[in-house]
Amino acid sequence: NEIKIFCPATIANLNCGFDVLGLCLDGIGDEMIIRKTAEKGIRITKIIGADLPLETEKNVAGVAALAIVKAADPDIGFEIEIHKKIKAGSGIGSSSASAAGAVFGINELLGKPFTRHELVDFAMKGEALASGCEHADNVAPCVLGGFTLVRGYNPLDVIKIESPSEIYAVVLHPHIEVKTSDSRAVLSPTVLLKDAITQWGNVGGLIAGLYTKDYELIGRSLQDVIIEPLRKQLIPNFENVKNAALQNGALGSGISGAGPSIFALCKGQEAAEKVAYAMSNSYQDTGIAFDMHISKVN
Ligand code: HSE
Repeated sequence: NEIKIFCPATIANLNCGFDVLGLCLDGIGDEMIIRKTAEKGIRITKIIGADLPLETEKNVAGVAALAIVKAADPDIGFEIEIHKKIKAGSGIGSSSASAAGAVFGINELLGKPFTRHELVDFAMKGEALASGCEHADNVAPCVLGGFTLVRGYNPLDVIKIESPSEIYAVVLHPHIEVKTSDSRAVLSPTVLLKDAITQWGNVGGLIAGLYTKDYELIGRSLQDVIIEPLRKQLIPNFENVKNAALQNGALGSGISGAGPSIFALCKGQEAAEKVAYAMSNSYQDTGIAFDMHISKVN
């Protein structure tokens, strides 16, 4: 009658794949406890670690939970207790972890009436409340694990991407908040054809590299000529951190989701530790507090 779940953090975009690519971080995440109640409906009973609304309709976990409950229409209700560890506005999918956790947990307690792919759709409803638009590049890897691609939104078509076993993600999280809505507001609604060509070449290259376990191709494809140039000014010291990662053996580096976190992908744990050290060294002088995470991606 009760389930305790781990809700992983995620990295969206992966440079070339704005709003379509993402990956799941094993080592960082929230915890959530969901209980069945005789009374119908969804109640958020407790949130520890963040100052977020308890009203169901104003809470991303609540909105996502309402979406799955509306579709399943059970004779029972649920109460949700959230232990936030992922900071809001950090760029590693804080709201998605809550949205995905709520639908995953409720689906388990209902006896799994929905597939994992269907859960992504419900979770996206919660995510929309946080960011002001429906995008699934964080909720998809959060629910499915590993690397994911949102092939299309209308209807939602999410694909889990095979990947080599030795990929590690390093995340530098500066303790400043960048709201996804602000980070989207700096983007241009149009792109140049030459930039689009570069970008979709890289998306194809990254997917091919992941399937064929070609680490060099993965590295060459981790580029972003459309979003990063507009967003990087929101992230203090971004270029230095990225260069430190690349010069110390990272396959690629860039903005994690909407920022301000900066990520790097590496081959193997040893390489990841070296890159994490270099990235954190390059950030010391900013005077901004930060934390580092290393996580295997699988
Ligand atoms: N793809 C989204 C963005 C992820 O970059 O705005 C952030 O939630």
